[in-house]
Amino acid sequence: MFFSRVQSAGQSALKALVVSPEADAETTLKPALTAAGRFAVTVVRDSFERAEPRIAADTAAVIIACVDTQARGELVALQRFINRTGGRVPVIVVTDGFDEALARWLLQIRVADFVKRPIDPVELARTCIKAIEAQASGEPGEAEFFAFLPAAGGVGVTTLAIQTAFLLMRANGRKALARTCLIDLDFQNGACADHLDVEPRLILDEIVPNPDRLDDLLLDMMLSEHPSGLKVLAAPNRPAEMRTFDPAVVTRLLDLASRRFDNVVIDMPRTWFPWTDDVLVGADRVYIVTEMTVPGLRLARRLTAAITERLGEAVKPAAIVNRFESSLFGTGLRQSDIEAALGSALAGCVANNYRQVREAIDRGVPLEEIKASSNVLADLRKILTARAPGAAAANG
Ligand SMILES: Nc1ncnc2c1ncn2[C@@H]1O[C@H](COP(=O)(O)OP(=O)(O)OP(=O)(O)O)[C@@H](O)[C@H]1O
Ligand SMILES: [Mg+2]
Repeated sequence: MFFSRVQSAGQSALKALVVSPEADAETTLKPALTAAGRFAVTVVRDSFERAEPRIAADTAAVIIACVDTQARGELVALQRFINRTGGRVPVIVVTDGFDEALARWLLQIRVADFVKRPIDPVELARTCIKAIEAQASGEPGEAEFFAFLPAAGGVGVTTLAIQTAFLLMRANGRKALARTCLIDLDFQNGACADHLDVEPRLILDEIVPNPDRLDDLLLDMMLSEHPSGLKVLAAPNRPAEMRTFDPAVVTRLLDLASRRFDNVVIDMPRTWFPWTDDVLVGADRVYIVTEMTVPGLRLARRLTAAITERLGEAVKPAAIVNRFESSLFGTGLRQSDIEAALGSALAGCVANNYRQVREAIDRGVPLEEIKASSNVLADLRKILTARAPGAAAANG
């Protein structure tokens, strides 16, 4: 899931939650995990049965539950928790001992693993990491994330994000549409809903005070649908308001979307928010969009360098030069200037075709419907196809 991806990218320590009524939670378990150097450990000194209702699926990347296996209430709480969270967070059970029947039952209710006291610290840490990795790789249908980030205002981020979403949706040779969602994170000035002529239904006031309330059902109510089948998550604009809120709101949204869709395309704002790092680290592709001017190329180069400096190897931003004009005989910038300015950070250029793009925006339809052989789409396809090795090609 998106959230665990953000965590395992090494930006922050892996959150481990130890639930135990015993003193050894503090004296043995916490030091054992802390010593492994990967975990930020929180201890809840309570029985699992009592603590269970207060634990949300995204509280931690792994939960270590010390349960009294003789107590039926504890086992029921374990099962209830795993059902309630859909097995999204791995649970490791620590017990004083168990027999074969109990071990079988624990596996049946999808406990990730179990460890017997006395605790071997190295084994416990290894078991936790194994469970987190198994969880991340076994996630069903995890979406591929594409983040589009502006190097300057008005360079065409929204246009390219929308057309990318349409391309990805139809990338299955049109046999079936890939489940695709466009998310407008430009809460202040977002224009995705306007471009597509859909009603924005993401009501931030409902989720900001309590991100944990956000579940599949609520997400469903907040998704808009474009006639093409594209899902859109966009909030009504608040142009006069600079909204900042708990980054968990955004990671939670992306987390839910990650399990629902094959592709998620994100329209990012120009301002850096507390959640921006997480979105970039969690994205499979980060495209920086700029325009074909000297300042535009400089801004893109600086932004690329700044992201690399800030987030390291976890993010590999690639620049797209939009509204590209080849000026073979003119005096303006040439392809070679662009290559020189951006080097290996250049993902590609997208042709300038104002008439086509404007018509697509005004009618709220995929460019493909305006002109199947659009040069803008051909360029965009080329960029998407050349993306990360192993990813499916977008050959709508
Ligand atoms: N490839 C293109 N060819 C011609 N015009 C384009 C192209 N891409 C975008 N445009 C035009 O550029 C303008 C800005 O596009 P868009 O709204 O997508 O930019 P943006 O970067 O999202 O802007 P903002 O900073 O306001 O969010 C629009 O008028 C759009 O029609
Ligand atoms: Mg925009």
